Amino acid sequence: MKPSRGLYLHIPFCSIKCFYCDFTAFSGQKKIVSRYLKALDQEASFFPNFNPDTLYIGGGTPSELSAEELRVLFKMIRSRFPKADFKEATFEANPESLNIEKIKILKDSGVNRISLGLQTLDDRLLKSIGRRHSSSDFLSVFSSLRETGNFSISVDLMFGLPEQKLEDHLRSLKQVLDLFPEHLSLYGLQVEDWTLFSKRKISVDESLAREMFEGSIEILKTAGFVHYEVSNFALSGFESLHNRIYWRNGEYLGLGCGSASYLNGMRTMNEDRLVSYCAQIESGKRAIASSEKLEGIERLGEMAFLGLRMLEGYVPPPESRQVFAPQWDSLISRGLIERRGEAFRLTQEGVFLANQVFMEFVSPFNQISNSEALG
Ligand SMILES: C[S@@+](CC[C@H](N)C(=O)[O-])C[C@H]1O[C@@H](n2cnc3c(N)ncnc32)[C@H](O)[C@@H]1O
Ligand code: SF4
Repeated sequence: MKPSRGLYLHIPFCSIKCFYCDFTAFSGQKKIVSRYLKALDQEASFFPNFNPDTLYIGGGTPSELSAEELRVLFKMIRSRFPKADFKEATFEANPESLNIEKIKILKDSGVNRISLGLQTLDDRLLKSIGRRHSSSDFLSVFSSLRETGNFSISVDLMFGLPEQKLEDHLRSLKQVLDLFPEHLSLYGLQVEDWTLFSKRKISVDESLAREMFEGSIEILKTAGFVHYEVSNFALSGFESLHNRIYWRNGEYLGLGCGSASYLNGMRTMNEDRLVSYCAQIESGKRAIASSEKLEGIERLGEMAFLGLRMLEGYVPPPESRQVFAPQWDSLISRGLIERRGEAFRLTQEGVFLANQVFMEFVSPFNQISNSEALG
């Protein structure tokens, strides 16, 4: 069977910039939306033979687009990818900017999965991280989605937030589960450079964050969710097909400013400045900021750390076993990964220390042993 290919469209507009966020996302740029949608259309025209199996419209905040702008966006997708029969079409939304009119457009346009950015159901914490919505906005959008369409719903939650107590997080999680979403993404706060949190010198209490993560895993397992990727949990059959393409090193085309693509072994990053992205596309060029052919040890390393994200495990090809022999052995002896037949997979401890595991496969590697192994 032909491997699946993904199409990602980036909508970089937000009502305000959340205090922790370093995504390619801009507030106060509404006036450029229609120019941006035209640029997306023009960029899509550069790929007439790309036939995707999954669609992911992410951001930024795609639900910031008006009903009319959403119509324009979906018309563009239909006309540029006329043969696409999306097995999964995901739309990212924030509670304050989704309404019944937009939900109907999403439904009529073939969207079958909504990813709702909630972060926490605690109104005090929502304010303190710079979110625009309240818990009641979320609850009302959730019920509108259930009433209006047959969407599978994923909810994003964050833990390790400043002033967040263990009970606060677990209460939010349980309240969300009472609504029966099909999928949950759970992210520990990362304090990224250049964010307001970084300027305020916010730090994460790692041992409390770990307790929150452990407590969440227990609750989610009891509720019947499969922990299928480091940060992702789903009822059986509702795992994200689109993200699976990334983790299994499949091909995807990313359109829009700051988007990444992986096609024919080339990793390409688009320009992430909004106006510069539009101007380059308007002049008939691709707006590429960087590209590299992933080969040799870099490619093997990337396949390993992406593959290990999935908790079912990763079967490394023989070259990977050879080149990264010291890493595989050391990770096993440190109890961070384990063998299951031909597959290597994260242990429970490895899940908590996943970034440490992944760093083993990111250049610069454990050079001496690798260069010896490469002979
Ligand atoms: C593409 S982002 C944003 C999507 C959407 N605009 C929103 O705000 O919900 C997807 C998710 O990444 C998570 N996230 C973003 N920045 C983060 C950070 N610094 N640390 C941890 N999680 C983060 C949030 O849970 C967010 O919902
Ligand atoms: S977290 Fe979401 S809404 Fe907030 S700034 Fe980032 S992309 Fe925009």
